Amino acid sequence: MKHTKILLTGGSGTLGRHILNSGLFKDILAPSSKEMNITSAAAVEKFFSKNDFDSIIHCAAMARVAECEKEPEKAVLVNVIGTANLVKAATEKRKEIKLVHISTDGIYESTKGNYSENDAARPYNFYGWTKLGAESAVNVLKNFCIIRTRFLDPENIKYDTYAKDSYTSILPVDELVKAIAAMVENDFIGTVNIGGGRISDYDAYRKYKPTIKPCKFSEIQEKTPFRLSKDASMNTTLWKRLQRK
Ligand SMILES: NC(=O)c1ccc[n+]([C@@H]2O[C@H](COP(=O)([O-])OP(=O)(O)OC[C@H]3O[C@@H](n4cnc5c(N)ncnc54)[C@H](OP(=O)(O)O)[C@@H]3O)[C@@H](O)[C@H]2O)c1
Repeated sequence: MKHTKILLTGGSGTLGRHILNSGLFKDILAPSSKEMNITSAAAVEKFFSKNDFDSIIHCAAMARVAECEKEPEKAVLVNVIGTANLVKAATEKRKEIKLVHISTDGIYESTKGNYSENDAARPYNFYGWTKLGAESAVNVLKNFCIIRTRFLDPENIKYDTYAKDSYTSILPVDELVKAIAAMVENDFIGTVNIGGGRISDYDAYRKYKPTIKPCKFSEIQEKTPFRLSKDASMNTTLWKRLQRK
């Protein structure tokens, strides 16, 4: 990897930990949420004024859908305002900083699948709307890459049943980490879907936990107080093209 100094937000989270443990990023600062609480513009500005870096990988977020539904104000504060604070501080730095922002397939309506980056943004729950708010802030920068994705951690599979009739382009977290490393280096500016082929939740998870049982999407949706995605699979043609560059 080219020598790039990186600031990682959300280093204690699932994705952040895999980024730090991957060995792919040699020169990386990963302040905790205590050292740089992104909801505080002053804390972000202070950290930016005292440290030097070329790129930011922004993983910090309120990333659990149920928590966002329970605490919407906090979700707005962390996901929308926290991201805007980073954008503001990056704009104020005297050099051009690249922001690689981790977004979600939940930006799309997630009913018919095969969504491409040019399809309408139509989030279907509160979390998705806050992530779209974050994307809007990131778009004001000169140099950014928004990654729309979904990932699983093979070491931490929560449930014992997964639907056979709901679909995504979910990736194992370490594959996403490699893709993030590639996008830190790539000159592409804009939004890219990163994922694997369309796969049912059951088939995706049973590769790593063969004991899981199949169920129907409607059975899970009936028990859940917010809308879930039925087919959030994405068209990843652009990502495949960027990999060849
Ligand atoms: N999980 C998925 O399948 C999925 C899918 C698509 C996109 N994403 C996105 O991927 C990113 C990483 O997700 P994840 O699953 O790794 O999340 P996670 O495990 O919940 O970790 C969230 C991280 O954000 C940090 N954070 C929260 N509030 C903060 C604040 N005010 N200031 C600074 N840091 C703060 C947390 O730090 P503390 O531990 O100190 O609170 C933690 O390090 C998120 O942007 C998420 O929206 C996730």
